[in-house]
Amino acid sequence: MKGIILAGGTGSRMYPCTKVTNKHLLPVYNKPMIYYPIKTLADAGVKDILIVSGPGHAGDFLNLLGSGKEFGVDLAYDIQEEAGGIAQALNVGRKFVGEDKVIVILGDNIFEDDIFQFVQEFEKQESGARIFLKEVSIESGRRFGCAVVEEDKVVYVEEKPRDPKSNLAITGLYMFDSTVFEKINRQSPSARGELEITDAIDFYVKEGNCKYDIIKGFWSDAGTFESLFKSSKFLIDKDLQSRPTFRQETSS
Ligand code: G1P
Repeated sequence: MKGIILAGGTGSRMYPCTKVTNKHLLPVYNKPMIYYPIKTLADAGVKDILIVSGPGHAGDFLNLLGSGKEFGVDLAYDIQEEAGGIAQALNVGRKFVGEDKVIVILGDNIFEDDIFQFVQEFEKQESGARIFLKEVSIESGRRFGCAVVEEDKVVYVEEKPRDPKSNLAITGLYMFDSTVFEKINRQSPSARGELEITDAIDFYVKEGNCKYDIIKGFWSDAGTFESLFKSSKFLIDKDLQSRPTFRQETSS
């Protein structure tokens, strides 16, 4: 299983903090944002990881992360020449993945859960896709991809719906077989001119070959000022609670 972290984009929602740097290098609590998706994949046993970023800051990722030794993984780097959507960025990894399966994570997604088990199960699955969903309020569901499920299958997906058909948001964590690249090549740009990851998933849904897992713990993107703050707050609280002195102080 190969891993791909998508860390491109213009970061326009976080301007001016992203004027001279890439969004995924901004701090979330006490680490650069990109550290979290690397750890999610490393903990899941995924060791071969490609980082796809935009042309402006690829060197910064290399300087920060190097070979990946610090994380116990092998890192490779590639560039998405123009910002044309998540599916287009994923397509950059076509050669890296080859005939293998791939787990893809958006570089601004922070997960608490350990997904090792789910990755193991997907390794055994013959073909198809498996996506990670999180229960959210219908209100905040409008900000994300939305999925409708029946038994163990996803039967409907929609990107940022005005009226979400369920309370299940599609998180930025996906597992695909290698046919995802041929599917991306059949995609057309969405109304906002991008190749949407949700449309790539939709091919699998229509084939009846998209399964899902539900994320139980904390999940947030950190791609807006509010969600970045929320993610930092979650991480600092968790860190403080794990310190013995903090536990003594709060229990007395
Ligand atoms: C992207 C995806 C969306 C997903 C979200 C998760 O949206 O298009 O389906 O729910 O990431 O973070 P973006 O935040 O890039 O607009």
